[in-house]
Amino acid sequence: MRLAGGGVALIPTAPEQARNRDTHYPYRADSYFQYLTGFTEPEAVLVIVAGKADSEAQSILFCREKNAERETWDGFRHGPEGAREAFGFESANVIGDLDARLAELLPDQPALWFSIGHDAGWDARIAGALNKVRGESRTGKRAPAMIRDVRAELDAMRLVKDATELAIMRRASEISCNAHIRAMRFAAPGRFEYEVEAELLHEFRRHGCEFPAYTPIVAGGANACILHYVGNDQPLLDGDLLLIDAGGELSGYASDITRTFPVSGRFSGPQADIYDLVLDAQAAAIRAVRPGANFADPHDAALKVLAQGMIDMKLLTGSLDAVLESESYKRFYMHRTSHWLGKDVHDAGEYKEGEHWAPLVPGMVLTIEPGCYIRPAEDVREVFWNIGVRIEDDAVVTKEGCEIITVAAPKTIADIEALMRDARGR
Ligand code: GLY
Ligand code: MN
Ligand code: MN
Repeated sequence: MRLAGGGVALIPTAPEQARNRDTHYPYRADSYFQYLTGFTEPEAVLVIVAGKADSEAQSILFCREKNAERETWDGFRHGPEGAREAFGFESANVIGDLDARLAELLPDQPALWFSIGHDAGWDARIAGALNKVRGESRTGKRAPAMIRDVRAELDAMRLVKDATELAIMRRASEISCNAHIRAMRFAAPGRFEYEVEAELLHEFRRHGCEFPAYTPIVAGGANACILHYVGNDQPLLDGDLLLIDAGGELSGYASDITRTFPVSGRFSGPQADIYDLVLDAQAAAIRAVRPGANFADPHDAALKVLAQGMIDMKLLTGSLDAVLESESYKRFYMHRTSHWLGKDVHDAGEYKEGEHWAPLVPGMVLTIEPGCYIRPAEDVREVFWNIGVRIEDDAVVTKEGCEIITVAAPKTIADIEALMRDARGR
């Protein structure tokens, strides 16, 4: 609230979503709300009231009341008093009191900080609360003259992780690396993509991940060239590659890892050529992650290596400069190399400061995920058809450079083949 310059901030958590009749999608708290509170029950709102001094600022939680009957059916609720004690709010109220309390808290505040436009129901409720204050203007009450987006301040805070957040992200990565190792050991011709997915989910869950951080992509053969493939229902074929993009979410923090390996346990020559090109591009991108560099530097570094490799393998024609200038590489590499990672797999935080790419500073976490996806086409040598490779790791920017927190999942051809050989007992 000090950063915001005073006023009242209102941060609701996520609504529950019905799946059908009385069944709901698994509940996950809103990332901003969770970031500020650690409180994960639904039907909750955080209100922060700035004071004249920092010591006068107040955090007020609105949450569900204790209810013996509902708790018998649905499970434990903290209730306002329990939540206040356990989480350290200055005060707490039942959620049903929110509108009445807003009518007391809003008058004569310079600004209301709220993420307008994200939820129509909340927008209407906020308009109602402001109009209630405006309706009492003859008693001398003034409604806040400014409504500002609280997420802008929170995005900047979420972009740089503290030691506690990094410790959780390292553990989420460790679990997720083990899930990829499990998948490499398990995959074999004749197994189905969903069987491999089950191995991943099993490994996430048995180590305490609440969810997968996103729907796992388990893409055999040509499916690897579909960037967001989540069908995961096809058999794995001898001779194909398997691309797995999967990470667990632990205590509200995501891991995001991709590995690509041969179903048979042995890369073919053309598969190895494309794989090593992507691995070289990733190494170049990782070398570009350090304080003083900017968000686009790893992407540019990866692009140079990929584009040159595509020219050398006769996938593209022209000089390196011409290929980069015309963006003809986009036929085989159509996504960017990085995104912020944190509570959300594509995490909060701006990518630009004004006209310039955001500078990297210690504590930021970003993915490094170059790829190469070759669909069948007359002008492409058939040996490369349907090869789709992505290699994705998670990097923490450090004072000296970066720390890759996902190194435990093997990614050199030698290491992958050795692990798969070992798993097959030969
Ligand atoms: N798994 C989503 C991504 O890599 O961005
Ligand atoms: Mn990613
Ligand atoms: Mn990914």
